[in-house]
Amino acid sequence: MGSKGGRHFLQIPGPTNVPDRVLRILSRPTIDHRGPAFALIAREAIEGLQRVFETKGAVVIYPSSGTGAWEAALVNTLSPGDKVLMFETGHFATLWRNMAVRLGLEVDFVPGDWRRGVDPEVVLAKLTEDRGRVIKAVAIVHNETSTGVTSRVADVRRQIDKAGHPALLMVDTISSLASIDYRHDEWGVDVTVGCSQKGLMLPPGLGLNAISGKALTASKSARLPRSYWDWEPMLEDNKAGFFPYTPATNLLYGLCEALRMLHEQGLPNVFARHCRHAEATRRAVRAWGLELVALNPAEYSSSLTAVMVPDGYDADVFRRAVLDRFDMSLGTGLGKLKGKIFRIGHLGDFNDLMLAGTLSGVELGLAVSGVPFKRGGVTAALDYLAASGVLEPTSARS
Ligand SMILES: Cc1ncc(COP(=O)(O)O)c(C=O)c1O
Repeated sequence: MGSKGGRHFLQIPGPTNVPDRVLRILSRPTIDHRGPAFALIAREAIEGLQRVFETKGAVVIYPSSGTGAWEAALVNTLSPGDKVLMFETGHFATLWRNMAVRLGLEVDFVPGDWRRGVDPEVVLAKLTEDRGRVIKAVAIVHNETSTGVTSRVADVRRQIDKAGHPALLMVDTISSLASIDYRHDEWGVDVTVGCSQKGLMLPPGLGLNAISGKALTASKSARLPRSYWDWEPMLEDNKAGFFPYTPATNLLYGLCEALRMLHEQGLPNVFARHCRHAEATRRAVRAWGLELVALNPAEYSSSLTAVMVPDGYDADVFRRAVLDRFDMSLGTGLGKLKGKIFRIGHLGDFNDLMLAGTLSGVELGLAVSGVPFKRGGVTAALDYLAASGVLEPTSARS
């Protein structure tokens, strides 16, 4: 066992590192959630989230994990037996499909190899052949956290429009919101699903829906049973800054602070930072001679990188060595990728030196666990970081 001095490195792709500013605010005394001070906080949180989702429409905040927000998206808009088009992009897309089936929806689940995102051409083909307009929704995962592969939401939207199909578009942004460029209104998304513990730099505990006017209209006639997740009482009470049940008061303090931090940095800068750290990470992976799970550069994720370990080696044994020796948590392989890959989270409250430490931990871990690799990944990443500063470089000369 290595020394346990210093800080643990939490480099799973969420929950992410919670900034000290947010941690401090979380520890404030809980207040009356039916009093005037609370209403100001709730309103600030909702307005700040609208800017992150890039929407002028409704946003609701549940005391829940992301899975709850998935369920809310489905039960508010759909009826038993409705047909939904979904894509097997990875573990989370599969879990969302399983939920839809359990809720009584009929899912057309387009098979995938977990190394590519949604093919917009398949969306076009499926919707064009649906002459009876029985498909009520297309539901996709923007950033597959299990594979480090993104889907091109704007292109999917274009194909839905090209088919002239009225299906709702639902998008899971659980590991992309506030990390990767996303535009709910511009891309014509009807329900966007998010949560607190990734790009929003908070602990787990908040589930989010951004809702279009079309989705709200659909909710008036949708017949799947719903109670806790019902948008209507939530939106009604939110108008005055309140909730129909006890909200996660302290997480809302934290959310307001995290939103302030994001807006101080500027979302375009936040996205650029994530892109740069992802590129540096991929350069490290290539220099190590290891393979990315993602096959298409247009679909590389900026919030995490999933890496294959060579055949005959167990990624979880490697991860265990990294944890025991260097006190760093890396993401495990999920579902059919268990043991075959590890995932490096580089999202949320993160900077160049944290990335350098993370990649050093991976390189050290490869060395001590006997996985065959070439040295030089950290150097390749550092070279890229030095050459691609997002801030004006300062000269070391006086
Ligand atoms: C893309 C994606 N969707 C859904 C979920 C489920 O969210 P939760 O575990 O917060 O319920 C996760 C969790 O990591 C995720 O990464």
